Amino acid sequence: IRVAVVFGGRSSEHEISCVTAGSVLSVIDTERYEVVPVGITRDGHWRLVDVDPSELAIVDGRLPSVPDTGPGLALALITPGAFLEVAPEAVPRLLGQVDVVLPLLHGPFGEDGTLQGLLELAEVRYAGAGVFASAASMDKVFMKALLTGQGLKTGPYLAVSDRAWTRDRKRVLDNIATLGGVVFVKPARAGSSIGISRVPDATDTEAVVEAVEAARAHDPKVIVEAGIRGREIECGVLESLDGGEPDVSLPAEIHVAEGYDFYDFEAKYLSSSSLSIPADLPDEVTRRVRRLAADAFEALGCEGLARVDFFYGDDGELYVNELNTLPGFTPSSAFPQMWAASGLDYPALVDRLIRTALN
Ligand code: DAL
Ligand code: MG
Repeated sequence: IRVAVVFGGRSSEHEISCVTAGSVLSVIDTERYEVVPVGITRDGHWRLVDVDPSELAIVDGRLPSVPDTGPGLALALITPGAFLEVAPEAVPRLLGQVDVVLPLLHGPFGEDGTLQGLLELAEVRYAGAGVFASAASMDKVFMKALLTGQGLKTGPYLAVSDRAWTRDRKRVLDNIATLGGVVFVKPARAGSSIGISRVPDATDTEAVVEAVEAARAHDPKVIVEAGIRGREIECGVLESLDGGEPDVSLPAEIHVAEGYDFYDFEAKYLSSSSLSIPADLPDEVTRRVRRLAADAFEALGCEGLARVDFFYGDDGELYVNELNTLPGFTPSSAFPQMWAASGLDYPALVDRLIRTALN
């Protein structure tokens, strides 16, 4: 079985995707699977890479990337226009030579339905969510709308469109002020906390403007979320192999390293932030959070895998913060650790993803 492991990519999470791929490539069962490692450079060139997985790691705080060397893949075919000129039979030949794709890409152009659309067109099987669930889950505004539409509780939030920000800023700022207290300002479609600011006071116009501009450096669409006082809890979800309800891991609790205001990029990947697995929660809360994780997975129509992130508010409520259709798979990431604690170790988890995709 030929498995294309696709990683890197054009998003701001390029490096994290490389780290994810490094750990997956080092455990994938090469007796059972013939692995084709495909790196996408930051500029979007697809390369057949010959890389030692141990080089795809964070070493002394340095982040890895896909080198722009090695044979290029004929994905020039997907540059605008050319795609249309190609005979349909030629498209599957590009990626059709593999049995399944493991898109280990985080963020836009990978986790957001675009790559999934290409693979659908090419009739290639792939692990993880389909086009719509990927796109909807990448966009925190649409994600929350779909979650609340299915009765799941999220915290208060506001969307800030490019148009509103450039033409109607005063009204936007007034609306943000009504959220009160601490707010988190985020690019609507990004991950790994890139471009996120914590603003201690929603009525502090100057700080809000600065935060929105920082988020807009990554995405013209911005979301502002009211801070929720409480604990950060997450669960891993896997599609069932037999068509039943999704499987949900034990929950983890995030303990942000000292010196960080919130779980930002550095706190996530370059600090001593830690996880307790299982999270120390009353049984009833553990049951509830696992149930809600499965509900969120279903609400967005996910497939394969997802990580659902929650706040367990000081008010006793569980708020879904977000769902990631391609959660980090680095050695320090919660997703594989939660599954290991739930009886599925890292190699078995990777195998499960491939088998689900081929199912
Ligand atoms: N977006 C990062 C990789 C995560 O969700 O873990
Ligand atoms: Mg995310």
